[in-house]
Amino acid sequence: MNVTIFGTGYVGLVTGACLAEMGNRVVCVDVDEDKVRRLKQGEVPIFEPGLEPLVHRHAADGLLEFTTDPGPAVIRADLIFIAVGTPPDEDGSADLRYVLAVARTIGRHLQHYSVIVDKSTVPVGTADRVREAIQAELQVRSAEISFDVVSNPEFLKEGNAVVDCLRPDRIVIGSSSARAVEVLRKLYAPFNRNHDRMVVMDERSAELTKYAANAMLATKISFMNEVANIAERVGADVELVRKGIGSDPRIGYDFIYPGAGYGGSCFPKDVQALLRTATAEGYDARLLHAVETVNQSQKERLFQILSRHFQGDLKGRCIAVWGLAFKPNTDDMREAPSRTLLAALWQAGATVRAYDPEAMDEARRIWGERADLQLCASADEAVQGADALVIVTEWKVFRSPDFTRLRQALAAGVIVDGRNLYAPEVVEQAGLAYYGIGRGRSL
Ligand code: UGA
Repeated sequence: MNVTIFGTGYVGLVTGACLAEMGNRVVCVDVDEDKVRRLKQGEVPIFEPGLEPLVHRHAADGLLEFTTDPGPAVIRADLIFIAVGTPPDEDGSADLRYVLAVARTIGRHLQHYSVIVDKSTVPVGTADRVREAIQAELQVRSAEISFDVVSNPEFLKEGNAVVDCLRPDRIVIGSSSARAVEVLRKLYAPFNRNHDRMVVMDERSAELTKYAANAMLATKISFMNEVANIAERVGADVELVRKGIGSDPRIGYDFIYPGAGYGGSCFPKDVQALLRTATAEGYDARLLHAVETVNQSQKERLFQILSRHFQGDLKGRCIAVWGLAFKPNTDDMREAPSRTLLAALWQAGATVRAYDPEAMDEARRIWGERADLQLCASADEAVQGADALVIVTEWKVFRSPDFTRLRQALAAGVIVDGRNLYAPEVVEQAGLAYYGIGRGRSL
């Protein structure tokens, strides 16, 4: 099929590459000329395992093209995906400016029946607004062209996006048009391994499904962080509690890891947007408020632990930080707990030596050159001459360090394990002070 995708961010690019992999002819449109030029040269702007080979393969066989010119891309399409960003407004609601601009562009160029697919995470009711925006442009042209707008939210995880896209656990289709559902059935048929993954519903339910999924996952994390904070006060180990509750299949082992708070481009933004939607409808979503509040304070936890260890005086201390990305296997630092930690450390007069396997360029872009930050070439280099080490992101390379060498490198001999990677007794045997998250009466 002929597919056109607006937006070459995570969602658009991954979707485009995966649809090309299934044999569709895909054109990706973006307003950013420099980005499109780089993509045409085979430069993939994001770090996402498996994405680059797919983009290269299908750029070479002609199934995947990039352009800044929307007109021909709209005219050729059986399906048009809207996968542009929905950044939060000042009040936390999703900003639909880019989505609606794309809708108007589609309306200006549409020549024949197409299915317009909302792939961006958009508030309930957006499919209607997209439909109206397209219709308004068609009216200006006095064109009578039928089209359908479908909500088809994505559930990709950064770092695993290609696999999630090629092997989805569900494909949510929100549409009340049988014709549009048929088109999507055809498009997604190759993605249905051994059973039908499509869940068809109305547009509004599909839009809410996306927010409900992310809010539920964020709730699990905040809940566990709260249990961790209680565990510290009562002298329990949350890691044992986690195993104890995860064995109940109704709870499950996934997504109950306490840590430094959730970050990324999705959970913080989507929890806030759902809160705003609820508020706008006159409903006070108290649980979502709590999820958000717990997360804000959890992001401050690592600094709190350090500050208490050094009795409130971090001035002149040097802190090594392992992991800057908001999670492993990505270079994305949006809303990353590392940013809250570093800001607090600098505020307290400490200096930082940081290392991340993928996010160093991103860190340079965000913080630039500063005297109180040393971006190091390796995990080893980061700890040299530091007083304490904080693990913020659970990259595999940080999982089994040589604690004896760490003891020699760290002047004050302190490890703050923000992801509970280590067995406290092993770290302590090496003569280091160990602080985890929710592991006994630490402070
Ligand atoms: C999330 C969802 O998992 C995807 O299903 C969804 O499609 C995506 O948002 C989206 O809306 O686009 P992502 O933001 O890539 O994906 O990251 P996750 O792997 O979900 O992790 C989010 C945050 O939660 C990270 O900061 C991670 O460290 C934290 N986390 C996760 C925990 O603190 N504990 C856990 O047990 C799991």
